[in-house]
Amino acid sequence: MTEKKRLLLGITGGIAAYKIAEAARLFTQEDIEVHTVMTESACHFVGPATFQALTGNPVYTDLWQASAMQNMPHIHLSRKVDLILIAPASADFIAKLANGLADDLLATLCLARNCPLLIAPAMNRQMWENPATQRNLSRLRQDGVGILGPAYGTQACGETGMGRMLEAPALLEALRNAMFSDKLFSGTRILITAGPTFEAIDAVRGITNRSSGKMGYAIAQAAIESGATVTLISGPTCLTPPAVHQFIPVISADEMLHAVQTTTPQTDIFISVAAVADYRAAQIQPQKIKKTNTALSIELIPAPDILQTVSQSPNPPFCVGFAAETEQLVQNAQIKRRKKKLPLLVANLVQDAIGADESELILFDDNGKHLLSKAAKIVQAHRIIQHIHTLYPQSGHLVS
Ligand code: CTP
Repeated sequence: MTEKKRLLLGITGGIAAYKIAEAARLFTQEDIEVHTVMTESACHFVGPATFQALTGNPVYTDLWQASAMQNMPHIHLSRKVDLILIAPASADFIAKLANGLADDLLATLCLARNCPLLIAPAMNRQMWENPATQRNLSRLRQDGVGILGPAYGTQACGETGMGRMLEAPALLEALRNAMFSDKLFSGTRILITAGPTFEAIDAVRGITNRSSGKMGYAIAQAAIESGATVTLISGPTCLTPPAVHQFIPVISADEMLHAVQTTTPQTDIFISVAAVADYRAAQIQPQKIKKTNTALSIELIPAPDILQTVSQSPNPPFCVGFAAETEQLVQNAQIKRRKKKLPLLVANLVQDAIGADESELILFDDNGKHLLSKAAKIVQAHRIIQHIHTLYPQSGHLVS
């Protein structure tokens, strides 16, 4: 890191606030200048003196205290930083952000900001799963707010589930990515496919697979944060798309191929994360197939291989493939990379990855293989984007 960056660290009320002291220490060790703002409830869990000592800067706790030093503290503080990180972000604060409330210093300066905002949610699993919280998070994603985690695990209340705040090293990595790789791909057009496809058999049934779309959506988020112009083509998922330039929802492999082919002439990098069906029904029955007591055969024919179609077209974009394997990961991944002529292939073991929020990945390129140790998908997504940057634009080569 060369240039000194300024972070506004917002701490809201939650037991995970104690962990953020360690994170603040890591941030300052990275030469990030940290300015801390705590909500009133955060102060019930940790003291401002801790952060003052760790960051070497005054800690702000309310609008009126800060006013004593600055005329317009909410404007002043948000203008002098490169990024705002709210960690932990409580369910209550997330609700405030989603609705644009400004009833305390932290909420006010988030509303007045002109820099990126990241939040690291931390809460009880039931609060996390509550539709109101998920609705608020969807809204924030659409507003371009980056959401870090949470992780799955044991919670302070004794329950186990989603809602643990990411650990300090993961927060540091996310911060580095957001603060230092923002111009990596500015002006570059990145196309990403994500999620499963659904191949209809009859009016109500079809063939699909267990892809959640989380990895593809995380890559889209990381690509946005790297400054790229991002198009996301997605099969059916339950996720809210990040704030991409263009979002194209599709259902089947044929539809996905059509959308991809329409977009590739304006694409520099194609990252094929989608779990595309390999087969589809030869005939789609227009009505629901009725049950009988005899065996039923459905003729399946190959679905198009979208990545291979693109990578073997004349003047292809820089193509990145994903390989989901259940066995012999290294061998299968290497065969796949050669067969599809890809400068980069990202491989994982499916049983570890589907629907999970963390994954362990192996990257295969002309230089060999590189392990990406287990981390949150958004962290992995940034690592992949950075790795692509080390290879791009030497993409004219064909893989032997
Ligand atoms: N892919 C694709 N179209 C398909 C199948 C796969 O574009 N019909 C892409 C995926 O998006 C991924 C890569 O090809 O980037 C590898 O997908 P994977 O399912 O792991 O491999 P397959 O080529 O389908 O081979 P197999 O299912 O035999 O492992």
